[in-house]
Amino acid sequence: RKKIAIMTSGGDSPGMNGVVRACVRMAIHMGCDPYCIYEGYEGLVRGGNLIRKMEWHDVRGWLSEGGTLIGTARCMAFFERAGRLAAARNLISQGIDALIICGGDGSLTGADRFRAEWPTLIEELEANGEYTADQLAPYRHLNIVGLVGSIDNDLSGTDATIGCYSALARICYAIDLIEATASSHSRAFVIEVMGRHCGWLALMAGIATGADFIFIPEKPRKDNWREEMCSIVEHHRKQGKRKTIVIIAEGALDREGNKITPEMVKDLLADKKGLGLDTRITTLGHVQRGGTAVAYDRMLATLQGVEAVKAVLEATPETPTCVIAINENKIVRKPLMQAVQDTKRVAKAIESQEFDQAMALRDTEFSE
Ligand code: F6P
Repeated sequence: RKKIAIMTSGGDSPGMNGVVRACVRMAIHMGCDPYCIYEGYEGLVRGGNLIRKMEWHDVRGWLSEGGTLIGTARCMAFFERAGRLAAARNLISQGIDALIICGGDGSLTGADRFRAEWPTLIEELEANGEYTADQLAPYRHLNIVGLVGSIDNDLSGTDATIGCYSALARICYAIDLIEATASSHSRAFVIEVMGRHCGWLALMAGIATGADFIFIPEKPRKDNWREEMCSIVEHHRKQGKRKTIVIIAEGALDREGNKITPEMVKDLLADKKGLGLDTRITTLGHVQRGGTAVAYDRMLATLQGVEAVKAVLEATPETPTCVIAINENKIVRKPLMQAVQDTKRVAKAIESQEFDQAMALRDTEFSE
């Protein structure tokens, strides 16, 4: 029976448990043995009871659980060849030659490197006399399939990452709560949201809550953003609005590549010579990542988990590592490294202030 291991890696995201549940059950349905690797790459390197065979009932109720129940961890040892050799040894000792990884672009890049290096790791195990060539014969190729679990929705090539809609829902809920108190006191709130280099959460939350002003990394405001923001807020206030909501993506920059901080925005709104608004800052933080997945993420996790197992079973040694994506509402397989490279190009373009290029590389079209 084919043995397929499933692992979550990088920052947790709502829906990861749905992925594990779908992969475990689909693997069983297809006549395979599913294994879970606990604690991400750490579990792969340490092995032992961090690699466990799973049964159908082990994942019962997991759709409605937040975070990742099989854990995730940052693992320095996997950056070293010795760590990756230990990982190969641990997989082979359990008879596993297929790995489904749910994580962000960093985790998926690590997975692809592991696959590329696999033949030399196998040779080393043979040269060390740990296994004979005959014993290693079934393990000459490591099959890896990626699933994108991240709240940031920052991976190029897929319309949505698993968890982004849950985080968005959480942000909107939090802003609704803040709006009640903002209106009561006629206050302004500067709300910082997560997303790393990606402004998707900030932009979509701004649209969904009708925010007064939004800052995202991919499209810095014009140089006169201070005046622009103040005049828009002033206009809204004159129309009778008792609350002001400005959303800043944590990676927001100005056109020179300088970070725009919530404090900078607060000082502007509160400036006695200007708007003079009673202003507070709220950093939503990890509240955005916690909690159960919304229906969309559960659906995405399930459909993509099923597709990941199918991809594992259909792959040949020649198939490039694929990532499961969603494009125009269809679950599709894409070359993993292409998606990762495109994602890195966006971050690079932002870093070097080539914002038009960054915008062009994002899948979501932003306009003025
Ligand atoms: O990538 C997910 C994310 O939540 C980002 O939005 C954020 O910048 C980062 O992870 C926070 O990482 P940590 O949980 O390690 O503080």
